[in-house]
Amino acid sequence: MRSPRLLVLAAAVLCVSAQSPRLPPALDAAQGSANNTALDTPSTLTDTASILDTASAVNQNQGAPTDDTPPGLPKAPPMVTALDGQIGLSNIPNSNSNSDSTGAGRRDVSDYEQVFAGTAGNDAPVVGTAYFTYILVTNSSYEDGKAQCLATCTNTKGCVFVNLYYELGNPLIDSVYPEKSNLKCVLFGDVHTAEEKADYWNRQLSVQPNETTISIQNSSGYALATMDSELAAPDGYELVFGPISAANNAPGYMGFALLTEYSVDACAQMCNTRGPDPNTGACKYFNIWRAVNGSKPKTYTCAMYSEPTDASTADNTGQGSLHVTLSRGYKRISYIADGDFEQYTCPNNADFCFDTRAPGWTGTSPADGNDDATIFDFAPYAHMGTSVGLLGSAFGRDSYIGTLTATVVGDLLPEREYAVQFFYSSTYSGKESETPAFFEVLWNGEVVGPRANIGYSAWTSFAITVEAVGGGNDTLAIRGGGAPAYVFIDDVYLFLFE
Ligand SMILES: *[C@@H]1O[C@H](CO)[C@@H](O)[C@H](O)[C@H]1NC(C)=O
Ligand SMILES: *[C@@H]1O[C@H](CO)[C@@H](O)[C@H](O)[C@H]1NC(C)=O
Ligand SMILES: *[C@@H]1O[C@H](CO)[C@@H](O)[C@H](O)[C@H]1NC(C)=O
Ligand SMILES: *[C@@H]1O[C@H](CO)[C@@H](O)[C@H](O)[C@H]1NC(C)=O
Ligand SMILES: *[C@@H]1O[C@H](CO)[C@@H](O)[C@H](O)[C@H]1NC(C)=O
Ligand SMILES: *[C@@H]1O[C@H](CO)[C@@H](O)[C@H](O)[C@H]1NC(C)=O
Repeated sequence: MRSPRLLVLAAAVLCVSAQSPRLPPALDAAQGSANNTALDTPSTLTDTASILDTASAVNQNQGAPTDDTPPGLPKAPPMVTALDGQIGLSNIPNSNSNSDSTGAGRRDVSDYEQVFAGTAGNDAPVVGTAYFTYILVTNSSYEDGKAQCLATCTNTKGCVFVNLYYELGNPLIDSVYPEKSNLKCVLFGDVHTAEEKADYWNRQLSVQPNETTISIQNSSGYALATMDSELAAPDGYELVFGPISAANNAPGYMGFALLTEYSVDACAQMCNTRGPDPNTGACKYFNIWRAVNGSKPKTYTCAMYSEPTDASTADNTGQGSLHVTLSRGYKRISYIADGDFEQYTCPNNADFCFDTRAPGWTGTSPADGNDDATIFDFAPYAHMGTSVGLLGSAFGRDSYIGTLTATVVGDLLPEREYAVQFFYSSTYSGKESETPAFFEVLWNGEVVGPRANIGYSAWTSFAITVEAVGGGNDTLAIRGGGAPAYVFIDDVYLFLFE
């Protein structure tokens, strides 16, 4: 597997770097001379003010249109209404609607309760968040129409509330749509109250031109009685806390999106596709919550973090008229053991030790190689924490390529894409000696992607996607180095990507 050409090159460099070569990592660390160069990680706290200001400014309220939008259209997928403070509609990247786990579950008509009843004349529909779609249900009897409406909600993933009303004086309903029924059933992904009829009157003239000829009667609301329960974690995540009425205020904050609905899958997809933080790496945690103004849902916040946190940092309960509700934290699962090497520690609190074996990791050398892949517990070499992986002979005895093999834990989902992410650094031996520094990722024994010819690089985040075979048969290794072109590897993660 080794490239002979590479070996010749590495050996040549070994000879020229003679001026004042730094000692090999094992000797250097043993002397205790290296200073702690580990990153003083600048960590960003949640920008609560920006989230709440944007949440106040955004308007996601909507009801069923009275224009020529036909009934029964499929619900639109969740979308972003604001990203990092910029208001504007955009799609969720790579969204896979099949994996929408905010699903309906087992429900029947008895699982719904009336939230409010309507009035006979001069009523209004709800104008609120998380509008899904509308249908026309039979008006031969109110109860039959209602049953049809609730059954449709039950069969629509994420639907938790319906607004059912008569719409009189709309020619499209009276004579164009084949249903020939004026009983309108409007599906929502959040529960609304009669208070949310007010927006209809406010917007009536400006938004819907012919509304003045239309009258609404008996506009009532029915909600799923148990909406908080049975919310499955998105694939690749685990629930850390929630639902509670406080949002995280925590380090490692990477920005936020406001969503059209409370979709943990959409938020997971935002996190999966968010670019890495240069210091703290990939998104590893998200906090999803709903902002309400009194009883009125306002928007759904998806805040992303490169460092997992928990309920202990959830102290943001809102601001002004906006309050935090339904706050849940989800941690991204890494499918390798001890990716940050921190379980490898020196006995007796020694300052320094290294080994070819560590919890979750094995370092291997070519047949006649010496310590070409090792794990060090020595903070100055680590990206974060105190332990780190090293590619390249620890004592500088040869210039062979070493291989660090991880332990994949849990069965991966076959044919799903996973992201391998880590930080690398190749500054150890100085600019000249590190010129040939490189690494390659081996997935199930095969090199994936192009060889990373990194040369002299300070800690940098790397990511590549791979496809799982599943069945516990997936393997991950990283190889490279070739002393003195040492490559340090730290904070390795294997995440479900898509
Ligand atoms: C290590 O760093 C500290 C502070 O940055 C400095 O005072 C000290 O002289 C350094 N020691 C060595 C051996 O470079
Ligand atoms: C909250 O609702 C009140 C009226 O009910 C409104 O005046 C106020 O602007 C709303 N605040 C936000 C942040 O939406
Ligand atoms: C109006 O709604 C109520 C439920 O709130 C229902 O019992 C009643 O039958 C409806 N009236 C008509 C005329 O459909
Ligand atoms: C049902 O709706 C249709 C269409 O608007 C209307 O013509 C009819 O009179 C309604 N029937 C009842 C019983 O309200
Ligand atoms: C509004 O009503 C007029 C006539 O009543 C009709 O020609 C027009 O198409 C309607 N516009 C919409 C948007 O429904
Ligand atoms: C995993 O490996 C085992 C043993 O080699 C084999 O029997 C099994 O079919 C493999 N599973 C998959 C999904 O490749």
